[in-house]
Amino acid sequence: MTLININPDDLSRPDRYKLICGLVIPRPIALVTTVSENGVVNAAPFSFFNAFSDQPTIVALGVNSRPDGGMKDTATNINYTKEFVVHMVTKDIAEKMNVSCVNFPPDISEIEEANFTLKKSYAVNTPSIKESLVALECKLHSIIPLGIDRNITLGEVINISTTSDVVDVDKNYINIEKYQPIARLFGNMYASISDIFQLKRLNYQEWMNDKELSKLKKNNNKEED
Ligand SMILES: Cc1cc2nc3c(=O)[nH]c(=O)nc-3n(C[C@H](O)[C@H](O)[C@H](O)COP(=O)(O)O)c2cc1C
Repeated sequence: MTLININPDDLSRPDRYKLICGLVIPRPIALVTTVSENGVVNAAPFSFFNAFSDQPTIVALGVNSRPDGGMKDTATNINYTKEFVVHMVTKDIAEKMNVSCVNFPPDISEIEEANFTLKKSYAVNTPSIKESLVALECKLHSIIPLGIDRNITLGEVINISTTSDVVDVDKNYINIEKYQPIARLFGNMYASISDIFQLKRLNYQEWMNDKELSKLKKNNNKEED
């Protein structure tokens, strides 16, 4: 084994993309609905996606340009309506999500092709996807341009739409068995959550106590040897 250091600037664009996307994993997937100037509802998945702040409640999408340099419909629509809905992609809608990113001609609706059903959202005019377990209704917070063909779109979540199976509102508890979000790895690979473990977060006192305890255990073991 040899240590390697890679300056992304030394790589070709496709190799750089492949490396960063392949190493920063797993990434959750946002299935984003938006509405065009003509009222057409658009859906597309984004895995340059995560939550970044609780107050304000901010999620971010990394939106690229199309290969021809034009803006993706999602970006055009968000610029126009200043809102969007992020649906967390769970196992049960994974295949439909995959259909939604086929590059259909403009007159074909990816929502219909993927067999998704639209429903009215609670706090925004952009419709939501009925089959989704968690929808984050967002108003546009800001857009950070990154170079010529990339941007980060920040959305402020103004309503979380889910079900009582997924979130127990009284206990503020999430039922991960029911929720089952999937993540993107790289290429055509995805992952589901199947190996959950816990790590207790320690404060300094607890850390010191733990250290003392393991020292004692070590010494006891030595004496027994
Ligand atoms: C799982 C998955 C994740 C994706 N993530 C992104 C992403 O983070 N950013 C992006 O610009 N495109 C991403 N894409 C590609 C877009 O979904 C694709 O370009 C889509 O057709 C854009 O649709 P639109 O023009 O309707 O917005 C992803 C595709 C898939 C299947």
